[in-house]
Amino acid sequence: MSIAIYPGSFDPVTLGHLDIIERAANISEELIVAVLMNSSKSPLFSVEERVNMLREVTKHIDNVKIMSFSGLLVNFARDVNANIIVRGLRAITDFEYELQMAQTNHILNDTIDTVFLTSNLDYSYLSSSTVKEVASFGGDVSKFVPEYVIDKIYQKYNR
Ligand code: PNS
Repeated sequence: MSIAIYPGSFDPVTLGHLDIIERAANISEELIVAVLMNSSKSPLFSVEERVNMLREVTKHIDNVKIMSFSGLLVNFARDVNANIIVRGLRAITDFEYELQMAQTNHILNDTIDTVFLTSNLDYSYLSSSTVKEVASFGGDVSKFVPEYVIDKIYQKYNR
């Protein structure tokens, strides 16, 4: 049974993330979307909020489970019996950081491999940070995030 993990901050989940989740779920038996709890970045949404939004927007996908984790990703992967880490690559600028993470994780645990999915061209410019910046100035984020998430972001900025 192949269990894959798609880890990230998901602060908040974007349409780009959702596209990767749908495609990764298609090629794995079970996909665990793993939300990082102890990020050094100070997140806009609490881990519970991020988990709840992800649960809501992925409820149409049977083999997806949303969990949170803290500490090393490879330890979480071991605890949930996952041997594949999925990451999305939007552009060449993502590659250096992603390669470093993949190599580090493989050295920490050589039973775990990272698989990269290239992001859909429609979302190759998109990041959670961009979404937050646009929303903070009252801009339209409806092309960037799932419908369920839109109002949640505006509420954070009292918009
Ligand atoms: O969405 P992000 O912020 O790009 O996701 C980064 C994430 C959560 C995948 C990464 O920071 C991570 O795995 N953190 C857990 C700590 C860890 O295992 N670090 C070693 C890998 S270099």
